[in-house]
Amino acid sequence: MVLASQQDLTRVGPGTPAGELLRRYWLPIAPASEMTEENPIKALHVLGEGLAMFRDKSGRIGLMQERCTHHAVMMYNGHVESDSLACPLHAWRFDLEGNCFVIAYREKVYPIAWANAVAYPVKRYAGMLWAYMGPRPAPEFPRYEVLDRTDGRRRITVHPSRKRNWLDLVEDALQSEAGESDGASTNFSLASDGIVREGNLENDPASGQKLIFPVAFETDRSLCLRTPIDDAHTWEVIVEFIPDSEPMSVDPANEEPEVVYGQPDAAEDPNAALRGFFFGTAEMKPPEVIKMSDEIKKVAMGGFFFDSPAEKPGGFFFDTPASALPVEPERYAPPQQHSEDGVALFEALLHHEIQQMQEGANPMGIVREEQETPVEAGSAQS
Ligand code: FES
Repeated sequence: MVLASQQDLTRVGPGTPAGELLRRYWLPIAPASEMTEENPIKALHVLGEGLAMFRDKSGRIGLMQERCTHHAVMMYNGHVESDSLACPLHAWRFDLEGNCFVIAYREKVYPIAWANAVAYPVKRYAGMLWAYMGPRPAPEFPRYEVLDRTDGRRRITVHPSRKRNWLDLVEDALQSEAGESDGASTNFSLASDGIVREGNLENDPASGQKLIFPVAFETDRSLCLRTPIDDAHTWEVIVEFIPDSEPMSVDPANEEPEVVYGQPDAAEDPNAALRGFFFGTAEMKPPEVIKMSDEIKKVAMGGFFFDSPAEKPGGFFFDTPASALPVEPERYAPPQQHSEDGVALFEALLHHEIQQMQEGANPMGIVREEQETPVEAGSAQS
């Protein structure tokens, strides 16, 4: 078992403590409006994994590793055929569950089970697509009041990839700086699903905000969500709820809210405008993402062939193997109920929830029905 050291909490790749914890949650990955019949394929990176997302001819969404399991060609350069994504090189097809097959003479279908790809379930809700990248079965979809309300409308603001680590951004929002100079203070209290910020609104405009573990901040009318792209970049989306005398006429599962895109923060990342949203191609990845382990280098030299795709989720993730991380015999106590230090409380909670997960329990906010029907990999749920 690998326990989480301070440094590990910033790492999001497969096999890292925080990366495995984040994989237990449904995370938003794109506005649903970006997947259209005209543009049905999108390249993206989530939790350090390169992925290809596609919309099949029935409108269902698939999410699979970005490299073909045959010769590691980028699948996002392929095309959609009926209910599958076809590789641009030899046209092997991958369905929503990642199953690989070819269509031969007289339309005969040949499954190629050894070449099945890693695929993840995707769900559409409140105008966004959400992915679950952890062990199956997937947990219940989280409930956010801002996403569930139907007595008005929603607006989604998407910020381009921010050149900051996910933990850095979340902890920034938990800083308690307001009002300290005039003696006022902010308190943070542990709730069943996160941390509540309590203070005097005059001194602390963020008072009343709630961190819904691990990456969402909710107020009465807005929800800010952050999905780690990799160790150094984070995608940020804000959903606003605008009450209206005209209630919503469609279910949140099918609504199409207004989507606006924010501008890159030039001070934070001078190259953001050049790089583009979610790094459209592998060549556009920032250099710090490319960290080949010896094991992966060996595999890459050997012809881009994975012995077992399931053992290398997302194809090429260049990271330190979990077995190389330091093992600490330390155990983490449950976090205290109240603190003036929101960052310390959050880190104590993170350590505790990682430990819970490693011991086989569901971490905070994760609900799984005892007899839940397993969710098939890659299938879009509504
Ligand atoms: S490289 Fe994809 S089918 Fe051959």
